[in-house]
Amino acid sequence: MATANTDDTQASGGDRFIYLTAGLAALNGLLFGFDTGIISGAFLYINNTFTMSPLVEGIVISGAMAGAAFGAATGGKLADQIGRRRLILLGAVVFFIGSLTMAIAPTVLVLVVGRLIDGVAIGFASIVGPLYISEIAPPKIRGALTSLNQLMVTLGILISYFVNYAFADTGDWRLMLGTGMIPAVILALGMLKMPESPRWLYEHDQPDAARAVLKRTRESDIDAEMDEIKKTVDKQSGNGLSDLFESWLRPALIVGLGLAVFQQITGINAVIYYAPTILESTGFGSSTSIFATVGIGVINVVMTIVAIALIDRVGRRRLLLVGVGGMVVTPGVLGAVFYLPGFGGILGWVATGSLMLFVAFFAIGLGPVFWLLISEIYPLSVRGSAMGTVTVANWGANLLVSLAFPVLTANLGKPSTFWLFGICSLLAFVFAYRMVPETKGRSLEAIEADLRDNVSDSVGATGTESVPSRE
Ligand code: BGC
Repeated sequence: MATANTDDTQASGGDRFIYLTAGLAALNGLLFGFDTGIISGAFLYINNTFTMSPLVEGIVISGAMAGAAFGAATGGKLADQIGRRRLILLGAVVFFIGSLTMAIAPTVLVLVVGRLIDGVAIGFASIVGPLYISEIAPPKIRGALTSLNQLMVTLGILISYFVNYAFADTGDWRLMLGTGMIPAVILALGMLKMPESPRWLYEHDQPDAARAVLKRTRESDIDAEMDEIKKTVDKQSGNGLSDLFESWLRPALIVGLGLAVFQQITGINAVIYYAPTILESTGFGSSTSIFATVGIGVINVVMTIVAIALIDRVGRRRLLLVGVGGMVVTPGVLGAVFYLPGFGGILGWVATGSLMLFVAFFAIGLGPVFWLLISEIYPLSVRGSAMGTVTVANWGANLLVSLAFPVLTANLGKPSTFWLFGICSLLAFVFAYRMVPETKGRSLEAIEADLRDNVSDSVGATGTESVPSRE
């Protein structure tokens, strides 16, 4: 991560505090990943305790995503109103209550309630983690620091695979789900000592506090940054959701919504949630499938680290295009494998390899770049609400794909389902190529100023200085 910043003063000694702050806030990502990943393992054993109708089963599994959509819808506005830091604290408390409720649930109804509460916290976390980090980070390393959140999402998913595995013998689903309380407590206690976002403070008439936070988190001169924040806040007019639909903001909204939906309909969670099932159908036994699934989780983490090392150097746009490009090809290969006879042996491994490559390409592109860009491209006055809006779309699409995947594979078959994902990736590539701006190294205020100056010459225009600019 520090290697992303070789030419500047900003990664030196005093910046340890910014790494600590960002690392702690990124626990939001860990909870997001862990709590979405843990249910697949726990579910196998919940069935032994409670009798559930298929509908209730569906709600237990996907309830967190519905809760997350609600959390994202309300969390954005809340982040603008009560502040980023307080929302993180609130989210940690909600995570704790949700995990505790699930762990001690005496009835299936209580379990569902716990899952919904947990979902709301996941929704809060998915917005406020990247939002807080991007606002507190120095521009030169903002990409790497904000993407720490996505790294923690992938780590949370991986840890959930291990916890599932560790408790598999005893089948103690209450402990599996209750484990989520631990990072929630660490997050809450840690955030008590962390500062509010300087940008939010300035906007809420606390310029001295804003300056103090910048001083604490920057080695370099903070006057220029303070000036930029001041200018941006002075230019603001309203502060309502309606501002989101003003013409100068439309391109940024389209970019956010488009990436939100493409991040999901290109199929990542079909792999994350259903990997063992997919692998078993290529001829592997269950233990090999579970082993290969852990491999997929590891690749997701490792390639996110690669993305973090590159994102402030090669830029968001290039990583995104390479990543999405790879996601066009790999499902094609995977789909073809299912057509070949005799899956065992080498073909099973070709399938595993293409699943791993698919996840690797997601992890360097759509995974981190989506969350990073939506924390960068919206103006301060509506940043929380805008992120909330696009994040709701992300969770909605996530829910849709998770519910549709089993239905699609049953009706169209696995090859066509994966080819469908490949086609979605192709559309995502065209979209990213035409619409997505480069924000590397620029201050959030400069990105906002460019957006305002380009009312007609919007983000989507080609071959112009249209901004935030492309490289
Ligand atoms: C996505 C999640 C996904 C995860 C996988 C996140 O960026 O929003 O839906 O499960 O990445 O690493």
